This record gives sequence, structure tokens and C-alpha cells, in this order.
Amino acid sequence: MSNTHDGYFTEDNSAEVVNARTTTDNARLAQVMEAIVRHMHACVKEIEPTDEEWFKAIMFLTDTGHMCTDWRQEFILLSDTLGVSMLVDAINNRKPSGASESTVLGPFHLPDAPELPMGSNICLDEKGVPMLVKGRILDTDGNPIDKVKIDVWQANDEGFYDVQQKGIQPDFNLRGVFRTGGDGTYHFKGVKPKYYPIPDDGPVGKLMGALGRHPFRPAHLHYILEVDGFETLTTHIFDPDDPYIHSDAVFGVKESLMAKFDLIEDVGKIADAGMNGPYYEVVHDFVLARA
Ligand code: BEZ
Ligand code: FE
Repeated sequence: MSNTHDGYFTEDNSAEVVNARTTTDNARLAQVMEAIVRHMHACVKEIEPTDEEWFKAIMFLTDTGHMCTDWRQEFILLSDTLGVSMLVDAINNRKPSGASESTVLGPFHLPDAPELPMGSNICLDEKGVPMLVKGRILDTDGNPIDKVKIDVWQANDEGFYDVQQKGIQPDFNLRGVFRTGGDGTYHFKGVKPKYYPIPDDGPVGKLMGALGRHPFRPAHLHYILEVDGFETLTTHIFDPDDPYIHSDAVFGVKESLMAKFDLIEDVGKIADAGMNGPYYEVVHDFVLARA
């Protein structure tokens, strides 16, 4: 009798016995489950959990599930904070040289943000230090791209998204959709964002605390850039001077996504930019890969 197909389960052959039961015609499912079982059994053999520890792990996953609602996805947060979301993103977004890099989408995107005239101010409550963001959307040969849909969203000067402060911030505060013209340029006004904690009042936050990890993401602006003929780019730009730039809780920072946030105080420059007082100027170009 073979020690896998017909055999009894032992500590030594555990993964092989489990995998030998699979009979599906779904080759991808079989491949995925074979690897998961093999790695999980290897992990348990390395850790040698006590019964109490294993039950604690089961309860952690149970609590993670219970924390999920229509608007809160604690399992994605777990994947984010363990670096798995960024790994999946890296595998699925290998870019040709020169193209802008992607990063995590995050939970605060709204699919129905208003389309606004280029140059609009997305900061509806005028709180915080104003910011002017501008740049170009180019192809990998350096040519401007026309009709790019630019979907932007950001946290406010206290580190909160509008959806986290319903009734405090106006709906659709700090969100907007813009479209490039033939010169590929874009510009809009916002507010200098601040670092903020990922939702840390659930089991994932508790785990991070137990690991001695802080929950903060460095200040950033989110972008989704979409146009026919090119790969859609979901990304951020970051403030390189942020205190958490080297320790993003979800590992989303990449060197190429650093923008410069310049404080403009010169009265002439302020007037030329059509701003009312000192502001931060952020210039960042994006390069899209052909589909
Ligand atoms: C965000 O940047 O909005 C975000 C990303 C991952 C987890 C939590 C928040
Ligand atoms: Fe964010």
C-alpha cells in the first residue's frame, strides 16, 4: 500500500497524504491547493504550535471575518499589512522600463467621484495648506497622451478621508476625475495631505501592536490613470519628507513614486499660480505602458 494515496496520515507524510486526495479536473485549483497545503504543513512543522496557540490562530481569523462589513474588509487589511497585497501587485504589474510603477489601491476609492474641469479645487472645505498638483501623462517614448481619465483621491490635512468623516467633511471632498487634452498635462488643487493610521481598531491592528509595528501610512495622493491602448495604472505619489516614508504600514512606497512638495511663499509666484497665499507645489509626470 502506498503511503500517500491509500495510506494513513503521519507527521512525516502529512502534506502528501492530503494532496493525494485531490481528484479535480481544475488544474489551477489543484496547483494552488497543492502549494498551500505543502507550505502550510511545512510552516506548522517549523512552528510546532501548542493546541492553545493553534486555537488562538483560529480565533484570530474568526475575529478577522467578524470585523468585515460592506465597508470594512479586514482580510484585505491583513494581506496589506503582511506585504502580500504589494507582492500580488508587483507580480501583476511588471512594467517595461521607464513606465511608472503601481502600488496598492487601498479601501478608500469611490468609483463615482465627480468629473471636474481641469484645474479645479478638490478641497471643498478649504481646510489645511493649499496644494497645486501638476504634471504630464506620457507614453514610454515621451509623447503626451490625450484623453487620459485621471481619478485622484487623498486624505485631508488631519489624515482622514471624506468617507471616514461623514457629516464632518463634505461628500466627495478631496476626490475628482480629470481628463487630459492633447498636450497630456494635468493640474488640480488640493490640500497638503498628512500621514494617517490604517484602520487599527480590529484584530489586524491588535496584531500589529503585538508585533511592535506602528499603523501609519506616509502622506500620499492616490491616482488611477486609465485610457484606451494603455495599461491602467493604480498608484500613489508620496511626500519624501514624511516621518513614515521608510516604514509604510502596507509597504506601498517605491523610490520612483516620490514627488517633491515645495512650499511656495514668493508673492509673485503665488499670484502667477492664481493661489491666495502660500501653497505647496507638487510636480509629477506619469508614464503609461502600452496595453
Ligand atoms: C490607503 O492608502 O488608502 C490604504 C491602503 C491600504 C490599507 C489602508 C489604507
Ligand atoms: Fe491612502
